[in-house]
Amino acid sequence: MLSVENLKKTYDTGDEALKGVSMEVSGDEVVAIIGPSGAGKSTFIRCINQLTEPTAGSVELDGVDLTRLSTGDLRNQRRNMGMIFQEYGLVDRLTVMENVLSGRLGYVSAWNAFRRNFPPEDVRHARATLDRVGLAGYDDNRADELSGGQRQRVGIARAVVQRPKILLVDEPTSSLDPESSRAVMDLLTEIAREENIPVLINIHEVELALDYADRVVGFADGLVVFEGDPDEVDGDVRDTIYRGGEPKSDESAHGEPAGDRPADDSDRAVPGTDGEDDRSVARRTDV
Ligand SMILES: Nc1ncnc2c1ncn2[C@@H]1O[C@H](COP(=O)(O)OP(=O)(O)OP(=O)(O)O)[C@@H](O)[C@H]1O
Ligand SMILES: [Mg+2]
Repeated sequence: MLSVENLKKTYDTGDEALKGVSMEVSGDEVVAIIGPSGAGKSTFIRCINQLTEPTAGSVELDGVDLTRLSTGDLRNQRRNMGMIFQEYGLVDRLTVMENVLSGRLGYVSAWNAFRRNFPPEDVRHARATLDRVGLAGYDDNRADELSGGQRQRVGIARAVVQRPKILLVDEPTSSLDPESSRAVMDLLTEIAREENIPVLINIHEVELALDYADRVVGFADGLVVFEGDPDEVDGDVRDTIYRGGEPKSDESAHGEPAGDRPADDSDRAVPGTDGEDDRSVARRTDV
């Protein structure tokens, strides 16, 4: 079970991306996080697996607080969390099989990892998982020979062979056509049931979230502003989530310090903060 308590993240830029988020995810539940761009969805997922260090709060996976671990212990715990990214995160010049087996890297010795020596049962599991995601026979294709939907499925296979306790998925469908998006969502929900692990998915497409999730969580401006069944997401709830996500252009609706915006702006002038720029410019409201 994943238990997040009062998670906060303030970036060095002063941007308060998370202002105190709590959430529990367990069983084979599929939880969709929706909300406008900049609401803190990616930051939340990255703080769960500690790719981003939270400023405050706790993240417990089966009772272990990940925010308090040494680097070595954290490395061991990270393999319990399968990450699936929007950009697939595959190594283009490696084969499909090599990409999938990289999900086992946390388990083999450095020397064997370097030589890409994986135990036969890992290879068998990887092959069965490729079959499972509809990519039987693609073992030796290079990753860059695949379509976007196929690449996303390799990313899912790689996460599954980790045998994680939870899948953390950030915008799995935003680069895909509607048909491939549904195929990916079908796959993720089936894996939750088959592997009996929860899946936490950030997703822009509200309709996909409502069709596939057991529970929907609405983020706006670093806070949870809605949590409930998909069928509770009506026009009012959408307004709450998507209007709540805009107070940065509103006056201080959430009591934001007046200095927040200028601090953000001044960062744009600093070389080497391109990622931040992209995010700031890309804010949009998708309903
Ligand atoms: N590395 C970073 N450094 C500074 N600020 C950041 C960084 N990453 C995100 N932010 C800021 O934190 C806030 C939340 O960003 P985040 O990427 O978590 O939102 P999001 O909900 O995932 O948005 P999107 O839907 O566009 O993916 C935004 O104001 C963003 O500009
Ligand atoms: Mg995001």
